[in-house]
Amino acid sequence: MPTNLDTRPVVLTGDRTTGPLHLGHYAGSLKSRLALQESHCQYLLLADLQALTDNADDPSRIRRNVLEVAFDYLAVGVDPGVTTIAVQSQLPALAELTMLYMNFVTVSRLERNPTIKAEIQLRGFERDVPAGFLCYPVAQAADITAFKATVVPVGEDQVPLIEQTNEIVRRINRQAGRPVLVEAEARLSRVARLPGVDGKGKMSKSQGNAIPLSATPDMIREAVGRMYTDPNHLRASDPGTVEGNVVFTYLDAFAEDEAEVAAMKAAYRRGGLGDMVTKRRLEEILVAFLDPIRKRRAEIAADPGYVLSVLDEGTRRARAVTQATLHEVRAGLGLTLADLTLASAHGPRALTA
Ligand code: TRP
Repeated sequence: MPTNLDTRPVVLTGDRTTGPLHLGHYAGSLKSRLALQESHCQYLLLADLQALTDNADDPSRIRRNVLEVAFDYLAVGVDPGVTTIAVQSQLPALAELTMLYMNFVTVSRLERNPTIKAEIQLRGFERDVPAGFLCYPVAQAADITAFKATVVPVGEDQVPLIEQTNEIVRRINRQAGRPVLVEAEARLSRVARLPGVDGKGKMSKSQGNAIPLSATPDMIREAVGRMYTDPNHLRASDPGTVEGNVVFTYLDAFAEDEAEVAAMKAAYRRGGLGDMVTKRRLEEILVAFLDPIRKRRAEIAADPGYVLSVLDEGTRRARAVTQATLHEVRAGLGLTLADLTLASAHGPRALTA
């Protein structure tokens, strides 16, 4: 549990609460978070405010999924005794920091952000981009810096957002004349981007190519059956291509026995290993991986009162940390109540809290 005496490096990540998490989230970031939680002071944000930036027409979806994502965290093994889980919308300091940082970023810089550019295109916003969406990298910079995080385990699509964060950190520190904020580093997992089962782009619920962490064995079988392989590998005896073959990408991400996967790749390239066989093996591996997660998730979901108490406690802790940073940033920019009182011609009684 984080305390003032905690000197471990700080990790922060979050997830938009737009739906339950899937295998892409696991490979891209949940796995690193589990590895970091003992050695680092870790915070996880249920990013409901960020979810609103492209779901303003459906806030009930966001509300519903705050708990769903929390269930996923706890089901995969996030330990609320060591990791702090907080609800973004309940941390007003983040909104205030966003407002301050907004003055240290240009609109054209935001429009040039490769992540934002790609997401605007994917969502078909064209010229009608919500201002909140265009500015979400600034809000994400607030999330990261408010906790003084130095490590951010994310998928590679998030790297430009970390760069944007560090630009803001440098500008605020230059303005303040001292290192008020710290720069963060993106920590990429071995599999930075898991493709969807169709092999088109990254795994995403909205693209219908995702395997949720709560998938049943039947759902897994169906998804693996649809997986994109080598279209030129018509007979089992033909030599096949491993690169871009989704079954092998998933085996790389989820099989524990690397030697087994290496042997399968060699046999596939040589010819003689059929897609039915590789898919059957992947299915076994995914069922073995997801079965305990699904069962634990069902137990946790049966006790929402417990989960709410975890979020309440985590949010309380996060509120203290983020308020403290907000105060430091305000002081760095000369915007505390004391600064205003000093500047007032009427002396110390001019302004009171
Ligand atoms: N942008 C992340 C996503 O789309 C969610 C997120 C919000 C986040 N705040 C963050 C990630 C801070 C890392 C750090 O899933």
